[in-house]
Amino acid sequence: MRFLTKKIEETDAKTFICYMFEDDINKSDLFNYLDCLSQGMLNKQIYQYKTITGKFLETYKYSINENMLVVICALGKKSELTRQRFSQATANAARTVKNYTKDKTLAIELIENTNDCNRSSKYFTKKDSAQIALCALRIGLYEFNKYLAEKKETIETIELLDNNLNKEIEQGAQIGAYSSFAMKFAKDLVNESAQIVTPAYIANLAEQIAKEHKLEAKVYDKEQIKRLNMNAFLAVGQGSVNEPKFIHLTYTPKGTPRKKIALVGKGVTFDAGGMNIKPAASMLTMKSDMSGAACILGIIQAIAKLESDVELHAISALCENMTSASAYKQGDILTAMNGKTIEVDNTDAEGRITLADALSYCDKLNVDEVVDIATLTGAVIVSLGHNITGVMGNNQEQIDKFMEISKLSCENVWQMPVLDELKDNLKSEIADFKNTGGRNAGTSTAAWFLSNFTKSKSWMHLDIAGTAYLEKSNKETLSGPTAAMTRSLINYILS
Ligand code: BES
Ligand code: MN
Ligand code: ZN
Repeated sequence: MRFLTKKIEETDAKTFICYMFEDDINKSDLFNYLDCLSQGMLNKQIYQYKTITGKFLETYKYSINENMLVVICALGKKSELTRQRFSQATANAARTVKNYTKDKTLAIELIENTNDCNRSSKYFTKKDSAQIALCALRIGLYEFNKYLAEKKETIETIELLDNNLNKEIEQGAQIGAYSSFAMKFAKDLVNESAQIVTPAYIANLAEQIAKEHKLEAKVYDKEQIKRLNMNAFLAVGQGSVNEPKFIHLTYTPKGTPRKKIALVGKGVTFDAGGMNIKPAASMLTMKSDMSGAACILGIIQAIAKLESDVELHAISALCENMTSASAYKQGDILTAMNGKTIEVDNTDAEGRITLADALSYCDKLNVDEVVDIATLTGAVIVSLGHNITGVMGNNQEQIDKFMEISKLSCENVWQMPVLDELKDNLKSEIADFKNTGGRNAGTSTAAWFLSNFTKSKSWMHLDIAGTAYLEKSNKETLSGPTAAMTRSLINYILS
């Protein structure tokens, strides 16, 4: 997909998204331009025929001269507009475009709301608007049609229209373009079947990415993983014919790095539960258990393209958690890379075991911060549902900063505690920890477990089990993968 910025009169697009509010009679430059082309019919639809009232998420299609499509995207009351609402309405309008046009180009205007205080999620400039809109459009236009006989026509070029273009807007558009690419990349990888997306497949992909973006790549196979003493991670993968791989990509900026961050993504390419096999309904979507790995591989590409001044490491312990004759078992005692021992209480709590070694690996990297992102616990769905990601960690400043940025990135996060109170849940008589406790406080307990495998004073954990993959559409995204936290993490790394 191509992204351009243009003045309104320079566009030759035939398909437009144009915004309106419920309670603002002042219309945008683009609206007036299109109203003029329609000989006043657009205004008439609103004021005479009242075919559209402007309520949030309303969309209205109007064709001009039978060859132009205008999708009016209603944003609701002006005072209630947030960045997230702007994103949801835009993604929604893009879906209307996808369903009704055969054009290859879509043009959209930039809007702003600079009346509010500039730390509020209601405040956004045209730069922000460019960034948010490109992500939202690409969410709305997204399709995984590789396996469909009938493929829809797709938009190939997006034009951002504004009569006062400037450097800032171009910069916002660039960040939006690469963020939306990262999201599409992650969603495609999650959508692809686990039959294809094995640890070796992702490892190969990582090597290709490294070549294309001039990153340093380390890919460890089973023998090398053994030599690194990652025996906890190895145990999880031992039940599969698809051997585990450990990947570590590094982006190094040109000058001295402003900061060094390690991103760790859970990379279980299929989670059958192991010997504690999952029931059919729970296993159905478990090809998505590598969403964290997909997310960090998308992010490092965006960060490289944007030539960020941060040194970034993307790390994943890739394996399959299968039920088989060679699978690891309940009662097994595993020794992680950092020497701590784990009694396997439940083979389906495999994510934390793989992350234990991946986090220990990061101890050797000499980074300022470690962030892991994982489809870790069903319990986070019980606590927060499918539209809020759980955030935990050991550095409140880091968490506060991330929560602020995710709000500005149109994503929802909520903090859960990681307190030593949780220790008793995982008490083992014969090892340092069990890998599971009871049903209570499942998300926090998993995070507490992880906290024992990092020495970092700035470690943050994102549990995306509820948000990475939707069984039911939300306001912004249709069912399927969402690339949750990709936008937020890119903005976090850039800031
Ligand atoms: N991958 C799952 C978590 C998950 C659940 C992700 C639902 C997406 C949707 C994880 O490996 C898992 O199985 N967790 C268990 C832990 C339990 C055995 C303590 C769970 O949450 O049921
Ligand atoms: Mn599991
Ligand atoms: Zn899992």
